[in-house]
Amino acid sequence: MKYQNIVLGILLIASVTIAESLNPSEEQVKIIDGEEFVQTPYGLMLRECVQNVPSGSYVQESEDGSVFIINDQKNFSKRLERNEKCVKNNPARKLKDSVKQFDGWLDYGDWYVPENTKLSKFESFYSVPNTPIGKNDQYLFYFIAAQNNDNSGSGHSVIQPVLSYTLEGWYFQSWNCCPSGQAINAPAVKNITPHDQVYGSIEVKNSQITIISQNKFGEQSLLTVDSNGRNFDWIAATLETYHVIECNDYPFGKMTYSQMNVTLSDGTQAVPQWDTTGFTECAGNTKIIDPKTITIQHNFRD
Ligand SMILES: *[C@@H]1O[C@H](CO)[C@@H](O)[C@H](O)[C@H]1NC(C)=O
Ligand SMILES: *[C@@H]1O[C@H](CO)[C@@H](O)[C@H](O)[C@H]1NC(C)=O
Repeated sequence: MKYQNIVLGILLIASVTIAESLNPSEEQVKIIDGEEFVQTPYGLMLRECVQNVPSGSYVQESEDGSVFIINDQKNFSKRLERNEKCVKNNPARKLKDSVKQFDGWLDYGDWYVPENTKLSKFESFYSVPNTPIGKNDQYLFYFIAAQNNDNSGSGHSVIQPVLSYTLEGWYFQSWNCCPSGQAINAPAVKNITPHDQVYGSIEVKNSQITIISQNKFGEQSLLTVDSNGRNFDWIAATLETYHVIECNDYPFGKMTYSQMNVTLSDGTQAVPQWDTTGFTECAGNTKIIDPKTITIQHNFRD
């Protein structure tokens, strides 16, 4: 059991009240020292730095730090002026040095795209694991992701279709962290139950990145973001958690990333040599079954 999680748990119980969330419903707003926070795949973030936008929206960054989000189909557009609080607390900064310092990432397989090529597409099926027995307000985030670890473009960024388990149950949601410190997500798709196969993909095309999170009924959480000169040179298949306080907060048994395809910009299929260096606990085990299959499991030894 992680000491910092126990401490965090006690702190949260002591100081947090959960307020009614306006938008989206899966956000649980926590009031800490009078400020509103939201739990995200990047840790607790100020609510004003988390944006839920209609599915299919396109996110553009400007050099002045403003972010413009547009969705013609939904007749939606929004300009976010540069927000110093968000810029200052941009969690993507923590991705820079080493992902291992990024609190929350546990079990993962990762791979660097070969230097002379670029990522074009990364897709995978995710098998939804069993629902955890423990109900401790834990947050489990399973995702494939890409990051520009080479420092290219305008700041570090992570793009990810995130299969989430929280008190609200299972849901699947496309996220980008964090242009100008804004964590942007499209509304989650629900109707997800254990043993479903859901589909996630990240595609880089004409300097736009499209993130798809799709349930077995074909419902999507879809987000497109400007690449802004970033080269997504590092990919991972991951479990990230927050507020896990006992082993029962993890599912029993496996979660599987399967039929993973990594397409490079020259059109070839890569054969990733996945590395597994993530921290784990509760008999956690990340297995590279083959270049297209990674399993993550806890509470089970075999
Ligand atoms: C789109 O939004 C604008 C401004 O809110 C509104 O005036 C217009 O009627 C809307 N158009 C459609 C097709 O909904
Ligand atoms: C990966 O590619 C194979 C061969 O084209 C395809 O059958 C499989 O469905 C793809 N995987 C995903 C997650 O779409």
